[in-house]
Amino acid sequence: RLLIIDFGSQVTQLIARRLRELKVYCEIHPFNTVDDAFLREFAPKAVIFSGGPSSVFAEGAPMPPQSVYDLGVPILGICYGQQVMMHNLGGHVERGHGTAEFGRAFVTPATDRLPLLEGWFAADREQVWMSHGDHVSKIAPGFKVYGTSPNAPFAITGDPARNFYAVQFHPEVHHTPNGARLYENFVRLAGFTGDWTMAAYREEMVTRIREQVGDAKVICALSGGVDSSVAAALIHEAVGDQLTCVFVDHGLLRLNEAEEVVGMFRDHMNLQVIHAQEQERFLSALDGVSDPEIKRKTIGRLFIDVFQHYADQIEGARFLAQGTLYPDVIESVSFSGGPSVTIKSHHNVGGLPEKMGLKLVEPLRELFKDEVRALGRELGLPPSFIGRHPFPGPGLAIRCPGEITREKLEILRKADAVYIDQIRRHGLYDDIWQAFVAILPVRTVGVMGDGRTYDFACALRAVTSVDGMTADYYPFSHDFLGETATRIINEVQGINRVTYDITSKPPGTIEWE
Ligand code: XMP
Repeated sequence: RLLIIDFGSQVTQLIARRLRELKVYCEIHPFNTVDDAFLREFAPKAVIFSGGPSSVFAEGAPMPPQSVYDLGVPILGICYGQQVMMHNLGGHVERGHGTAEFGRAFVTPATDRLPLLEGWFAADREQVWMSHGDHVSKIAPGFKVYGTSPNAPFAITGDPARNFYAVQFHPEVHHTPNGARLYENFVRLAGFTGDWTMAAYREEMVTRIREQVGDAKVICALSGGVDSSVAAALIHEAVGDQLTCVFVDHGLLRLNEAEEVVGMFRDHMNLQVIHAQEQERFLSALDGVSDPEIKRKTIGRLFIDVFQHYADQIEGARFLAQGTLYPDVIESVSFSGGPSVTIKSHHNVGGLPEKMGLKLVEPLRELFKDEVRALGRELGLPPSFIGRHPFPGPGLAIRCPGEITREKLEILRKADAVYIDQIRRHGLYDDIWQAFVAILPVRTVGVMGDGRTYDFACALRAVTSVDGMTADYYPFSHDFLGETATRIINEVQGINRVTYDITSKPPGTIEWE
């Protein structure tokens, strides 16, 4: 396996992604958790140093243990990682005075050729993406220059005898179009055969979970979302009935959702599932609440109480399973950004492990969303389930601006089911990141048959997105929108007006609250 030492770059996860695309198994570990003992234990076949926001001159600058250079394995340093290598191996780095470079640059080859660059420079120069302040001013003994750019005389450097390579740019980003080739050459030089598969990952994780958990009991808050479902299925495969799942029904789920999720896990996959029917408790706590943050906090707090109540009845539970994904991890270890503003209080069970004295089992920590889906397929979860749109923890509460009433929830469930049915019938479900109906807190006048109506208006939402961080509205045809509006008004009593939300994110958010 390959070790990526993370020095805090915003794009470290893309390095992992490129390597997985090459079917090479890698793990990312923050620099401050990598010491001599870790390296011995991990025994990497190759190492990559990520970029990072620091300067090697800064007090306590992030550094790898010096022993990494004695492992005898190939090392590739990227951006800050290049500066670290030069600094550690006897080269020189200078503070950027007017030589900072951000954005597109072109690298041209030096006279010497390097196996790492096979397939590069077909057109004499390669476009790369730079993002650095400091720069290398003298390369370390044993290194040579293999590529230069106008502002980076040491854009590509290497010591082929030791298989140490260091580049100033970011080969992992989209704007270095031939970057994947560089990683491909690197892993080939390191002797990887590219035989890593999801099946291998599944086996390895099963072993690791067994080692971690032993014969203790594990509890899991099953939400019906892809992440917690895949985590539960994997842990069940590893430790069987030592796992108990709790599905908290807060009364804010979609039509038939609780029955479908519980049915699938209990009957189809043979997991032990407690169906916590706590609808009344949640809905009465939300009675009269219209402020979005108070809604979110009320649901979050109650969720933890309820989950704890059920978990307390499972004797001997020592572990809490969570479907944390790699992007969640990177946010929590990232030390580059300043404090960010809370737009919405997100719903999760954070804080519970300490409160209950539980240890975490997080078997998806190294994966991206699409990899989790692949693992889910590997584990035999139904494809229709794996491809489901995300659904927020606070559920329909945040799709019902203003006060939540049982009547509105009932109407919303029906309208949402018709809308999703329309999307599926037209074969659009998989092109859309997320689609749902929000019921608006206004009644408007309409005419149906020969009578006056005074019913709720609703808004349809459908967005495309890669990660939910930014999004654009989905360009439905007018025919589709017209047909959907007609169906909702005809089939759902209580709605007499349908609108389509065409706000992107930013400035909007995907959910309405
Ligand atoms: P927003 O509305 O912030 O949503 O643009 C981005 C994505 O996150 C989902 N979302 C949540 N997911 N707990 C979750 O698990 C939450 O509290 C929550 N709030 C929003 C939302 O559905 C979208 O996919």
